[in-house]
Amino acid sequence: MKVMAFNGSPRKDWNTATLLGKVLEGAAARGAEVEMIHLYDLAFTGCTSCFACKTKGGKSYARCAARDGLTPVLARAAQADALVLGSPVYLACVTGEMKSFMERLLFPYLAYDKARSSLFPGKVRAAFVYTMNVTEAEMKERGYTVHIDSNARFLERVFGNCEILTACDTWQFADYGRVVSDYFDTGRKIRSRQETFPADCAAAARLGERLVSA
Ligand SMILES: Cc1cc2nc3c(=O)[nH]c(=O)nc-3n(C[C@H](O)[C@H](O)[C@H](O)COP(=O)(O)O)c2cc1C
Repeated sequence: MKVMAFNGSPRKDWNTATLLGKVLEGAAARGAEVEMIHLYDLAFTGCTSCFACKTKGGKSYARCAARDGLTPVLARAAQADALVLGSPVYLACVTGEMKSFMERLLFPYLAYDKARSSLFPGKVRAAFVYTMNVTEAEMKERGYTVHIDSNARFLERVFGNCEILTACDTWQFADYGRVVSDYFDTGRKIRSRQETFPADCAAAARLGERLVSA
């Protein structure tokens, strides 16, 4: 059993990476082989509309024909048993790197047939982890859940399933005193860091365990 996590944050040891690490810890505790990919380490682009993955009889049908730093990662992802995507919310969406990754990971498997079939050859469990500044109530009020649900629908179309984990009101700066940040209620941020984030980490570990046992 192989579980791969994809960190769509430029930071390798902050909120998103920490939660993805907990998912992998949970999976590893159930015996899975795990791998973390930091997308910002890789030189790659989003889909370039070559349509090799859609060309009738083409050798790259249902596969991404682009050749760059993501190519070996996509090959390993096609062999994995569980894929966990993780992204901070940037401007109400996933980060640019995560969006580019999703285009390359998902589009080749989305057939333009009437049945809207998935061309993904295997069986895989999928999950998406989000971290963000806003509170859970603000996440809903501001419509972030529309974007989060839309991403989940694409993963479900390709892989047949997608669990979502959201971590809100995250700790954004090492030192709030050094940045212009009076918009934030720092006391609430500290409480969230001390009380809510550990609960998010525990939920992430349970998610990792579920991915393996399901
Ligand atoms: C460029 C940028 C844009 C952001 N936009 C949003 C946003 O629209 N909504 C939000 O709630 N948080 C936003 N944030 C905050 C991050 O989502 C939040 O701090 C997240 O937990 C960071 O993840 P990381 O610690 O893994 O890097 C933004 C942060 C950056 C750097």
